[in-house]
Amino acid sequence: MSALLRAPGEVRFASLPPLALYAHLPWCVRKCPYCDFNSHERGDALPEREYVDALIADLEAMLPSLWGRRLRSIFIGGGTPSLFSPEAIDRMLAAVRARLPVEPDAEVTLEANPGTAEAGRFRGYRAAGVNRLSLGIQSFDDAKLAVLGRIHSAHEARRAIEMAQASFENINLDLMYGLPQQTLEEARKDLREALRFGTPHLSAYQLTLEPNTVFYRKPPPLPEHDACADMQLAAEEMTAAAGFEHYETSAFARPGMRCRHNLNYWEFGDYLGIGAGAHGKISFADRVTRHERAKQPREYMATAGTAQEKVIAPRELPFEFMLNALRLVEGVPAELFEARTGLPTTAILRKVQSAQERGLLEEDPRRLRPTRRGRLFLNELLQLFLD
Ligand SMILES: C[S@@+](CC[C@H](N)C(=O)[O-])C[C@H]1O[C@@H](n2cnc3c(N)ncnc32)[C@H](O)[C@@H]1O
Ligand code: SF4
Repeated sequence: MSALLRAPGEVRFASLPPLALYAHLPWCVRKCPYCDFNSHERGDALPEREYVDALIADLEAMLPSLWGRRLRSIFIGGGTPSLFSPEAIDRMLAAVRARLPVEPDAEVTLEANPGTAEAGRFRGYRAAGVNRLSLGIQSFDDAKLAVLGRIHSAHEARRAIEMAQASFENINLDLMYGLPQQTLEEARKDLREALRFGTPHLSAYQLTLEPNTVFYRKPPPLPEHDACADMQLAAEEMTAAAGFEHYETSAFARPGMRCRHNLNYWEFGDYLGIGAGAHGKISFADRVTRHERAKQPREYMATAGTAQEKVIAPRELPFEFMLNALRLVEGVPAELFEARTGLPTTAILRKVQSAQERGLLEEDPRRLRPTRRGRLFLNELLQLFLD
């Protein structure tokens, strides 16, 4: 039962959730045919200076909502942030540090594409304060990389990892499986090769056909559902054998090396999103708000600092919380619901019981944790928490 007194459906926080910063850099060399991220082919020149100015204006406009708060992590994502020069990343991070306290051990990740990798660049990002690199490898098979429209070869992917290792210890490799005409053995080969580098974090995503992509309009021949399930199982077994923990549907880490930034999303922490199309979630003593920005880079740069704010209706919070928390293999402590939504645990008691009766949530009063069945039928489980 909550220690805070409140009317039914009223949001009240005893203390505010942890805070992270996401900065979106929306350009890529070429648009991949499967990608529905807010990413745009870069023209001749990247408007680096103008864009970093817009990011800073965006951040400044949010400061009145963030007084007294500290950043636990920063994630520079895209798009292809490694198209930006180390000087631009340095200017951006210096501007953040000058405006918001950043915890001394904050995780600062930058996403890089092996097609834009250079040793000097990686050293520059490290010197600017980036301490974690996430490399979009996808596969070590040249034929698969070509079908995926990637701008790099398998050789360049391997070289990018080695270059990254010269400047960074904390490295994530993104792989995709369920690729066009991929066999289980080919998927296992990609995983084996990724594990061979000894990096501490791996993300293995099943390729999905997203609306508004070339692959959606002209679907390539993808492996059957059962074959993809076997590939996910192979990822779970091979990473476990290599000493990794499987902590979220697609995320695997060596002990102590889980991605703190992504964990903050899954634990329904607060995050400020700056950049084209970025959104954020910021809690106040009595409400939780969302912030959205213009998606098109040009429009964003012309309007930076004018994010649209909307209060999330308290009745939507249980679903939003579960949508994130139940992706975690171990779920979350039961008390996190109240700490992160500002609502009493009693608000979801009946729904939790119903999920337990259906075998979708573990019958553990201390944790909200999906069963194996709950993870397999996540949508069915989440639907129970819809208003
Ligand atoms: C926003 S991308 C950033 C990385 C960088 N732009 C790159 O592609 O090298 C993050 C990751 O999402 C994954 N991804 C993107 N589209 C996907 C899709 N349709 N299905 C599955 N995974 C996808 C890829 O593994 C990609 O590396
Ligand atoms: S490089 Fe990454 S963000 Fe850019 S189009 Fe390809 S998958 Fe999307």
